[in-house]
Amino acid sequence: MTEAPTIRLSDYQPFTHRIEQVELTFRLHPTATKVMARMTLEPNPARPGPQDLRLDGEKLRLLSLRIDGKGAIFHQDGTGLTVPASALPAGRFTLETEVEIAPEGNTALEGLYMSNGMYCTQCEAEGFRKITFYPDRPDVMAPFRVRIESDLPVLLSNGNPAGRGEAWAEWDDPWPKPSYLFALVAGDLIAHPDRFTTVSGRDVELNIWVRKGDEGKCAYAMEALKRSMAWDERTYGREYDLDIFNIVAVDDFNMGAMENKGLNIFNSKYVLALPETATDDDFARIESIIAHEYFHNWTGNRITCRDWFQLCLKEGLTVFRDQQFSADMRSGPVKRIEDVLTLRARQFREDNGPLAHAVRPDHYVEINNFYTATVYEKGAEVIGMLKRLVGEAGYKAALDLYFDRHDGEAATIEDWLKVFEDATGRDLAQFKRWYTEAGTPRLSVTEHWQDGTYRLTFRQTNPPTPGEPLKRPKVIPIAIGLLNPNGAEVLPTTVLEMTEAEQSFVFKDMATKPIPSILRGFSAPVILEREVSPEERAFLLAHDTDPFNKWEAGRALAKDVMARMVTEGAQPGPDWLDALARVAQDESLDPAFRALALRLPGEDDMAQTLHDAGVTPDPDRIHAARRRMGEALARHLASALPRLIESMAEPGPFTPEARAAGRRALRLVLLGLQSRLDDGARAAAAFRTADNMTEQVGALACLLENRRGEAELQAFESQWRHDRLVMDKWFSLQILCAEPARAAEVTDRLTRHPDFDWKNPNRFRSVIGALSGNHAGFHKSDGSAYRLVADWLMRLDPLNPQTAARMSTAFETWGRYDADRQALIRVELERIMQAPDLSRDLAEMAGRMLGVTD
Ligand code: TRP
Ligand code: ZN
Repeated sequence: MTEAPTIRLSDYQPFTHRIEQVELTFRLHPTATKVMARMTLEPNPARPGPQDLRLDGEKLRLLSLRIDGKGAIFHQDGTGLTVPASALPAGRFTLETEVEIAPEGNTALEGLYMSNGMYCTQCEAEGFRKITFYPDRPDVMAPFRVRIESDLPVLLSNGNPAGRGEAWAEWDDPWPKPSYLFALVAGDLIAHPDRFTTVSGRDVELNIWVRKGDEGKCAYAMEALKRSMAWDERTYGREYDLDIFNIVAVDDFNMGAMENKGLNIFNSKYVLALPETATDDDFARIESIIAHEYFHNWTGNRITCRDWFQLCLKEGLTVFRDQQFSADMRSGPVKRIEDVLTLRARQFREDNGPLAHAVRPDHYVEINNFYTATVYEKGAEVIGMLKRLVGEAGYKAALDLYFDRHDGEAATIEDWLKVFEDATGRDLAQFKRWYTEAGTPRLSVTEHWQDGTYRLTFRQTNPPTPGEPLKRPKVIPIAIGLLNPNGAEVLPTTVLEMTEAEQSFVFKDMATKPIPSILRGFSAPVILEREVSPEERAFLLAHDTDPFNKWEAGRALAKDVMARMVTEGAQPGPDWLDALARVAQDESLDPAFRALALRLPGEDDMAQTLHDAGVTPDPDRIHAARRRMGEALARHLASALPRLIESMAEPGPFTPEARAAGRRALRLVLLGLQSRLDDGARAAAAFRTADNMTEQVGALACLLENRRGEAELQAFESQWRHDRLVMDKWFSLQILCAEPARAAEVTDRLTRHPDFDWKNPNRFRSVIGALSGNHAGFHKSDGSAYRLVADWLMRLDPLNPQTAARMSTAFETWGRYDADRQALIRVELERIMQAPDLSRDLAEMAGRMLGVTD
C-alpha cells in the first residue's frame, strides 16, 4: 500500500480552469448507471500560461472522453485523469465524458449509492469524484443542469424543476455551486408537502420525501423547517432563493444530514418523529438539524469554502446559527448549558488528546476525518467569542458585510475576520490564534481584597498539542459578575478582555469583599482552574443571577464531591446534598434547568476532569462513586420524591415543546432517583402507562440501571420490532445501562441478534458505539471491550471507512488511563494499523492516536 499524501493549506493554488456550465445526464441502473457529463471550461486568469487539466475521478469506468466533440489525449490513473495543456484548445472548450458506476455495490455511502431500493448521493467532501470526472474542490463553482432517466416515480436533483416526462426529469440549478453540494435522489417515495411564502413574496414549495408508511412522521420536521426559514429572514435577513425546497430521509447515512442546494438529504433519524417513537431529545435534535441544514443555504452554499481547511467557515458559523435558533425556540439558558455539556464531552476530550487540531487545521490526509467537534462546536464557540467582543451591533454589521461582500464566492477565514475588522475597526490578529492553534487554554484566577478594592488576576496557560509545542496567549473574553455576601449583584455581567498571559482587573469602592461569578455564560472555551470552597459553590448555586454559572456552580460542586470520593473514598457531604435538594424543590426554577442540575456528571466527563487535574482516572472507581452519589442523593430526597414526581406529571395531551419536555426531563431524573430506593414498581408502572417514547425509554432505563427490566425489554422489542429507529434505542440502551463487567458480553450477544444489521451506520453506532459510551464497561481492565470494538472497526472499515474512522475516536482518550490500559489500547490500535486493506481514513486516525502520523 502506498502512503496516502498529506494535503497542506500552504500548497493552495486556484484551479487552472473555470467552469461556465455543467450538464449531467444519469441513466440509472443498480449495477451499471451511466453518467454523461458535458461542461464548458475556460482558462482561469488566476493561473496564467498553458495549464494541464486535471480532473478527479475514483472508481469510475470511463467509456468516452471528447473535447469540442473530438477525441483527445489524456492520462488516467487511480485518482483521476489529466489532459495535457498541449491537447487543450486555447480559450473556451467543451469537455464531454461518459462513465459507468455501480451504486448498488457502494457500501461506503459516498458518491451515488442505494438505500432500500432508493438511489441517493452524498458528495461532501469528496464524493462527487465517484460520480464523474470533475475538479472536485469547493472553489470551482458552476451552475448545474441535470437530467435523470429512470422508471422510478420520484426523481430529484438540485435547483428548480425544468421538465418532466415518462421516465425522465430535468432540474436546473441557477446558483453556481461546488460539486460537493450536488445531489440526486430517485425512488418510490412519498411527500409530506407544504408551502412557505418568503418575506419578499416568493412562494416556495416544500416537501419532505420519505418511504411509504413514514409520511405520517414528518409534521414536526416540516414545522421546524418553516420556523427556520422565518427565523433566518428575521434574524439574519436571509431569504430562500429557489422555488422549491426538498428534504429526503434516508436510512443508510454516514452522518446527520447534508445541505445539498435545494435538496437536503437527512439521516431518517433526524426527520421522522411521532411522540410514540421519538424522545424529547430526538425532537430537539430534529429541530436543530433541520435548521442547521437550512441555514447552510447562506452560510455554506451561497458563500462556500475556498478549500477544505476553511471548513469551519461554514460549519462553525452554521452551528452558531442553529444554536441561536434553538435558544430562541426554546430556553436560552438551558440550551447554553446543553451546548457546553456537549462541547466538554466531545471537544475538550478531543482537544486534550492525540487528535487535537486547530479549528482551521493546516494539514490533513483524509478530510472526512476533520468533521470534528473542534471544527463544528469549537468553531461555533469562537464565533460566540467574536460576538461578545464586538457586541450585538458590531456582529450584525459584520454579518451584513459578509453576506454582501462574499455572496457567490468561496471564502476563507481571513475573509471572515476581515469583515469583522472592517465593520468594527478592531484588529483581530491576536484573535485569529483561536483558529490556527489547537488546545484548550487553562485559566487560573487569584483574588486580592484590600480597603474596598477588589482585584482579580488571571493567568492563561496554553498547553502543547501534537505538532504545536509552543503557543501564544489568546484573547479571552471573560464575562464576570460580582455578588455581595447577601446574594445581591453588585456588578452585573461585564466582559473583561484578557490579552496577556497574566492580567489583573481592579474593582474599586466596594463595600464588602464580593463573591465573583467568573466565565458567565461560558464566555470562552477554556478550562477554569480555581479552587473554590464548597460553601462558595453552594452560594453561587443558590444566588448567581447568571443561569449558566448557577448551573456550573452545582456541577463543579458535584465534580468536587465525586473527585474526593474517587481519590479519597470520601462520602457525599451535606453541602452538595442540601444544595441539590433545594434546587430540586425550587419551584421558581425552570424544570428543565432543575433536571440539568440534578443530573450527575457523566463518567467520561469525570475521567477527563480528573486527568486535567493530573489524576489518573480509575473507571471502576468513578462508576462506583457515581452510583453511590446517586443513592445518597436519592436517600436525601426520599421523602420529597413521590410528591415531586407527581407534581411533574403533564396534564393534557402530549406536546413536544420545550416547556413540557422540561417537565418530563425533571420527572425522569426524579424517577431515576426513586428507582434506586424502591423495588422498581414505580418505573415499571411508568413504562406500562407511557404514551410517549421519552417516558417509555426513560422508565426502561430506570429499570435497567438497577438490574431490572428484563420483561420490559422484551415487551419493548415485540412492540417496536418493525421500527428501525426505535430498535436502535433498544439496542443501545441495554449496552449503555449494562453493568460494566458485562457490557462487552452484552454487546457481543447483541451483535448476534438477527436485527443487528452492521452495515447500517445507525445500527452499528447504536451497538458498537454504545459500548464505548459505557465508560467503565469500555475500559474493563481485561481489555475485552477494546478488542471487541477494534474487531468491529476492522470489519466495517473495508466497507465503510468514513464511519469506521469516525468511531475509532473511542480510543482517543487512551492517554488518560493507567499503563496497563494504555498498553491494551495500543495493542488494538497497532492491530488496526496492520489490518489488510486498511483505509486511508482509519489509517490516519489510528496513526494520529498512536502519534506516528502528524
Ligand atoms: N455538511 C454536513 C453538515 O454539517 C455534514 C457532512 C459532511 C456530511 N460530510 C458528510 C453528512 C458526509 C453526511 C455524509 O451539515
Ligand atoms: Zn453543517
